[in-house]
Amino acid sequence: MAPYLRPRRLRENAVIRRMVRQTRLSADQLIYPMFVVEGQGVREEIGAMPAQYRFSVDSFAEELRSVRDAGIPAVILFGIPASEAKDSVGSASYDPNGVVCRALRSARKEVPEILLLADVCLCEYTDHGHCGIPVQDPDGRFRIDNDSSLQILAKAAVAYAEAGAHIVAPSDMMDGRVAAIREALDEKKMETVPILSYAAKYASAYYGPFREAAESAPKFGDRKSYQMDPANAREALQEVAIDLEEGADMVMVKPALPYLDIIRQVRDMVDVPLAAYNVSGEYSALCAAFEKGWLNRPATIRETLLSIHRAGADLILTYFAKEAAEMIRKGEM
Ligand code: PBG
Ligand code: ZN
Repeated sequence: MAPYLRPRRLRENAVIRRMVRQTRLSADQLIYPMFVVEGQGVREEIGAMPAQYRFSVDSFAEELRSVRDAGIPAVILFGIPASEAKDSVGSASYDPNGVVCRALRSARKEVPEILLLADVCLCEYTDHGHCGIPVQDPDGRFRIDNDSSLQILAKAAVAYAEAGAHIVAPSDMMDGRVAAIREALDEKKMETVPILSYAAKYASAYYGPFREAAESAPKFGDRKSYQMDPANAREALQEVAIDLEEGADMVMVKPALPYLDIIRQVRDMVDVPLAAYNVSGEYSALCAAFEKGWLNRPATIRETLLSIHRAGADLILTYFAKEAAEMIRKGEM
């Protein structure tokens, strides 16, 4: 029997396929994560992240020009301070002369067209590598104290906004940090600086390469007492609701690929812009397969980023940003 319904009619050639395409990615939706280190003229490739680099402040400005020229509107900055600058409470996070603040000031001056997001967290600045401040309980065990971490995070957010960050993005997962940061920014008359909160951030194995890049792996224990359990979906919706109530302007789900279901559920629940972080492990795993010749590079990047957008993300933080922008420009996306 000949079929009556033939969806293949609309797939016959590239022209009709373009015409009926339901999801399109624009370079305007991409945010490129970048790492800044101390030093001069540094452009050092990250071992576990091929073609991703740590830049000193001077080389960072140079690289930003090529990011801008690729048509990418925004970058998110991660700072790697000198190891001597680290302490148990992460004071270097709010140092106006720290790498992130210097990079922000330089970027504002040298490449004013780029939108600057600053990641707000303590793990890169604490000598123990946790995203909050540890305290010792009477039984001798360490736990990450929530409320004492909030003021440091708020100070860091204020320092980045003062140095020129257009948007601050807390990634620590302490309870109440969006409210604490909002209040601190408003108090300093920076009520116009938006907060993009890493609202549903899971305790993920996919952060491995990033921790090498940022030298931010915890020295003891793990992050499971503050980052979310990968088994939980409803809890993500609660986290998002809380952050919006506290004043977040945009929310993020992180990682992206293993959590496409969460992206979809959050998208269906909220009306604010939703970001998804295609994290280091998602990037590095694909790069390893490309190197082996096991996956086709442009086709896989295209499918991956489209899937994140199709699941409901408006914005995508990705180490593939430059390559993706190039593909979009050539009409290959
Ligand atoms: C730090 C932070 C992490 C990432 C972004 N901010 C790592 C972590 O929580 O351990 C991960 C990004 C990536 O893997 O690309 N709070
Ligand atoms: Zn952290």
